[in-house]
Amino acid sequence: MAVLKGKKIIIGITGSIAAYKVAMLTRLLVKEGAEVQIIMTEAAKTFVQALTFSTLSKNRVHSEFVPTEGALWTNHVELGLWADLILIAPASANTLSKMATGICDNLLTAVYLSAKCPVLFAPAMDLDMWKHPATQNNIEKLISYGNHLIPVGSGELASGLVGEGRLAEPEDIIQFLEKFIENGSTAVSKESDSIDSSVSQDLKGKTIVISAGPTQESLDPVRFISNHSSGRMGIALAEDAAARGAVVHLVLGPTNLKPENPAVNVHPVKSAEDMFQAVTGLFNKTDIAIMAAAVADFTPISHSETKIKKSGKDNMFLELKRTKDILKHLGEIKSKEQVLVGFALETNNEIENATKKLKKKNLDLIVLNSMRQKGAGFKHNTNKITILDRYNKITDFELKSKVEVATDIWNYIVSLSVSL
Ligand code: CTP
Repeated sequence: MAVLKGKKIIIGITGSIAAYKVAMLTRLLVKEGAEVQIIMTEAAKTFVQALTFSTLSKNRVHSEFVPTEGALWTNHVELGLWADLILIAPASANTLSKMATGICDNLLTAVYLSAKCPVLFAPAMDLDMWKHPATQNNIEKLISYGNHLIPVGSGELASGLVGEGRLAEPEDIIQFLEKFIENGSTAVSKESDSIDSSVSQDLKGKTIVISAGPTQESLDPVRFISNHSSGRMGIALAEDAAARGAVVHLVLGPTNLKPENPAVNVHPVKSAEDMFQAVTGLFNKTDIAIMAAAVADFTPISHSETKIKKSGKDNMFLELKRTKDILKHLGEIKSKEQVLVGFALETNNEIENATKKLKKKNLDLIVLNSMRQKGAGFKHNTNKITILDRYNKITDFELKSKVEVATDIWNYIVSLSVSL
């Protein structure tokens, strides 16, 4: 395949025994016609020789800001701007952690921070290091910044342990790069998540209502019942729809986040009842409605105008009543032309439960998050979803930033609306 021909690729090699595999990777990339520049960290040089890589890449290997053999400074900004793509392979736990937190103590991390092109990283480490929550959190952060994970392989590791953590094989990395370039991804810059004039206007002329965030059910003047929803997923959906030309109404529960795009009309609400009123008030002029809010299912049966006192009580019982199910209500009143989308957050029997919700609430599609998936749900910048549609089609998506997930959801809705 010729997609790699003429592509300018920086390979960042970090300290891992798997660094030897990058010699073969470099050879294959050069053979495919790519222009390769290598950056090695100090730790990488303890595993492999720079000479191997300068020979294979036909370029001087970069390592220090000021190389010992000359007085010339290696301009990390220029290197970063030169590249169409940066591939960090093997990416050690240490380098992943630096990238996730913005530590810039060597040439590779400086180039990474300066670069505007896509960054792909292929981790390599021991099983326990790979599984450690610190590593997994760093990977989640890197994905949420718009970087792309090349999945690790599984098998025997240098330590003798068997499991996940192996650097992907050079042929698999090449395949990943080819697919990535074919999908047009090298043209996507890190900044393009928020501003991209090339975004298609496929939602132009549509009016959209999105619910997002938590609700707060008031007990007394100082207390309420709520949940951990940040509203991030719904906000990302609203931003993406506005960028694609729609008129967007975002009915947003109490959260610290808000959309950056001033074109999104925000309707702030507090309780489930407020949200019901705001959404139903907008629904009849809506083409597409997405209910992404984590609405409280129950609310206190009564509200105390004064602070509830603890005096004399050992136990305290709260009497709650059901809130109105906004999504179900919209499913009952929707016309054939209106598209209705719900969310389901499940911990078990995910597909079965989501299918039941799709049918019971008369939805066109439902976006399923499983609490069992790492990186999915309330507290993350990333999400891993499965979409189930009214034609019983089930589609799994990779772990991605919520911004990318929003694009996947809109792409799906647009394709579904065409066939509705
Ligand atoms: N939803 C809503 N109004 C409510 C409750 C939920 O609009 N009062 C919407 C959510 O925004 C989401 C979907 O319904 O799109 C979630 O479905 P639901 O059946 O409420 O899920 P759970 O609350 O997780 O239900 P259960 O506890 O039965 O699993």
